[in-house]
Amino acid sequence: MPTAKPVLVIGSLNMDLVARCEHLPRTGQTVFGTDFFSAAGGKGANQAVAAARLGARVTMAGCVGDDRFGHDLVAGLRRDGVRSDAVRTVAHPTGTALITIAADGANTIVVISGANAACDTALVDRALADADGPGILLLQHEIPEAATAHAIRAARAAGWFIVLNPAPARPIGRDLLALIDIIVPNETEAAALTGSSDPREAARHLLAQGACAALITLGGDGALYCDAGATLRCPAVAVQAVDTTAAGDAYIGALAVALAEDRSVADSLGFAAVAAGLAVTRLGAQPSLASREEVGRFIANNPMPTAR
Ligand code: RIB
Repeated sequence: MPTAKPVLVIGSLNMDLVARCEHLPRTGQTVFGTDFFSAAGGKGANQAVAAARLGARVTMAGCVGDDRFGHDLVAGLRRDGVRSDAVRTVAHPTGTALITIAADGANTIVVISGANAACDTALVDRALADADGPGILLLQHEIPEAATAHAIRAARAAGWFIVLNPAPARPIGRDLLALIDIIVPNETEAAALTGSSDPREAARHLLAQGACAALITLGGDGALYCDAGATLRCPAVAVQAVDTTAAGDAYIGALAVALAEDRSVADSLGFAAVAAGLAVTRLGAQPSLASREEVGRFIANNPMPTAR
């Protein structure tokens, strides 16, 4: 797809340390796990890898430590064809995420930012200057607020299409919201940002606050897209969930690919739903992300989720 726009991700890289157990422990409770594994993760890097596996030209900018986790994460990006020269090595340990996964696929995640906290405005300027854009810029909330805010302003001025995944949720000023093309929270983040647990109301609230479009992901219930002219609801694909870690990242990576290929919003939502559906059928963040061939095969053999 040589005419597709490039995708730039400025965000986090984490090594995920994952324990699987029957039920997630309650506060004060100790439970036995069934197994443990580590896997490449971090919302930024997951979205970069998701987009690269689906065929986009992707650059990742972020920070890792000079340690085994950092080296492994960068090597993984390279294997997936993600340009990683904008990943800086800093004097902090690589970010980690402690994840528990229950038998029904639900999870809890604690992120220790480590090197991700060293992402600054200079890193953002460098990444934007070196990228062959403008194209699609993906941002999340796992790097410092100042770096994200600077990225939004600078990328907007340079003509990038900006997708913000506000995860974890933190307040966003109206001035910044107005510069974002699509804000993509999940239900919980949308409620935290707007005070409304009704997705339609939350989406309208985000538009009223200045966002050009809001896309709220609803897990097994699909997604809801709203902009000034349209409201679209797209179902999820019906799959047996094994691990929902990075489902949102798979969704956003795929959305970026479809937008980079100038596909319609409705088409993009369907494509993203398939990529996210495939990701939840497999364990781990980056190990679960689907290739273009897998998505194509799924679409050839199953009804395509239709946004309407
Ligand atoms: O979105 C999933 C990701 O959140 C995990 O890979 C973990 O690293 C945390 O950043």
